[in-house]
Amino acid sequence: MKKILIAPSLLSADFSRLAEEVRDVENAGCDALHIDVMDGSFVPNITIGPLVVAAVHRVTELPLDVHLMIDTPSRYVAEFRKAGADWITVHVEAEKDIHGVLRMIRESGAKTGLSLRPKTPVETVLPYLPELDMVLVMSVEPGFGGQKFMPDMMEKVKVLRSKFEGLISVDGGITAGNASQVVLAGADLLVAGSSVFGKPDRGAAMRELRDAAQNS
Ligand code: DX5
Ligand code: ZN
Repeated sequence: MKKILIAPSLLSADFSRLAEEVRDVENAGCDALHIDVMDGSFVPNITIGPLVVAAVHRVTELPLDVHLMIDTPSRYVAEFRKAGADWITVHVEAEKDIHGVLRMIRESGAKTGLSLRPKTPVETVLPYLPELDMVLVMSVEPGFGGQKFMPDMMEKVKVLRSKFEGLISVDGGITAGNASQVVLAGADLLVAGSSVFGKPDRGAAMRELRDAAQNS
């Protein structure tokens, strides 16, 4: 049985106590920390910049999985890498030269990720699979935490699983109630915001998710 990775999304953490929040999920045994970067243009919300990523990097050993929901992300790859990003994921809709930005991520020393919005067909990412360490399938419209999971997106995961040996990550609306269908579709990494940071006991929340994922 393959190990399913779980990455809590910092977006749902209490930002007034960021260091404690990060340590809390680290102690709860998560595998990485997902950091949602939004620019108010690619998505309506504005969240985190390199300064905050660097601050988080100073207080944790966890791999930082940085999800760039920004236009022309090539402008910021070097800065996020310098801030401590281990994985850098860009959106296929956000950049003209995807090969170029992936090369830039790879040359920075980070792992490459490519994501797609719910309305974007899975075919758009297929040409880039040989250059990718991870594909991140959005199961909500990017922009906000706490939205409802879109089960139809698991069709994309199945297509990708048949063609891709790298990591398949699913992001948005994941709970202990739907984790097993995500894993059965072929995902390796579950991003979970509200269902971890939204619960008072992060250890219990992580155990619940892990049990649901591993018992698929
Ligand atoms: C949405 C973000 C997600 C989100 C996940 O734009 O990319 O990472 O914060 O949060 P939940 O699990 O609450 O949907
Ligand atoms: Zn995300």
